[in-house]
Amino acid sequence: MPSILEAINNRSSKRAYLPKPVPKETIEAILKAAAQTPSGANMQPWSVYAISNQEVLKNIGDAIIQKMNEGVVHDQFIQYYPVKWVNPYKKRRIVTGAGLYKLMEVDRKDNDTRIKMWHDNFRWFGAQNVIFVCTDKANIDGASGALIDCGAYMQSIMLAAQEFGVDSCPQGSTTEFGQVIARTLDLPDNLALLYSVVLGYEDKDEKINSYQPARVSLEDSVTFID
Ligand SMILES: Cc1cc2nc3c(=O)[nH]c(=O)nc-3n(C[C@H](O)[C@H](O)[C@H](O)COP(=O)(O)O)c2cc1C
Repeated sequence: MPSILEAINNRSSKRAYLPKPVPKETIEAILKAAAQTPSGANMQPWSVYAISNQEVLKNIGDAIIQKMNEGVVHDQFIQYYPVKWVNPYKKRRIVTGAGLYKLMEVDRKDNDTRIKMWHDNFRWFGAQNVIFVCTDKANIDGASGALIDCGAYMQSIMLAAQEFGVDSCPQGSTTEFGQVIARTLDLPDNLALLYSVVLGYEDKDEKINSYQPARVSLEDSVTFID
């Protein structure tokens, strides 16, 4: 069993999975643990859809890819990424993306392969379980606290998953098509889709899963006031 630090340090986003479902009891145990995530006023603002039905997952993926093919860049409830990228974040984004493409030997100008890699998000990287996290629109109407709570919930899912040898990939790509997902799932009108997390068993033979982008040093991210 990994220690807490091991779980935090060993987790990394996996982007190729074996076609092997995570047992329902394991998904339930992961979500039961994630439900212990703290939230402001204990509001627990997450409304969660744990989908393991392959037809439903395919329908969601098809709907998003169709939108993308129509030239739609996003159809979303919330804007996840900065509208205006500034440094050092812009540089970190570029370095992280370039590192992945270099590992996979994908040329900068090879748009087709890049698009295919992005579409892989909506094929769930071959995994069979995806957790979609929504919140009530009222929670994010003029307030952002629920987004903080739901972000913590995301990390709880991914860390708890490790206890069961389950790998994960958080997905902001689905944030960008949240409205498409809401329509496909016929979600209640009050819900806004925030993100998804893919859960499954990594394919260790796939090179893409060895990618572990570096982090900035403490000196570059923390100010100690002793
Ligand atoms: C909110 C959020 C959204 C993300 N969206 C995606 C995504 O749509 N597709 C993807 O492949 N990775 C996605 N990632 C994974 C990040 O690229 C990854 O966490 C980061 O590069 C650090 O790598 P690591 O998770 O392997 O440590 C997302 C991560 C977070 C936290």
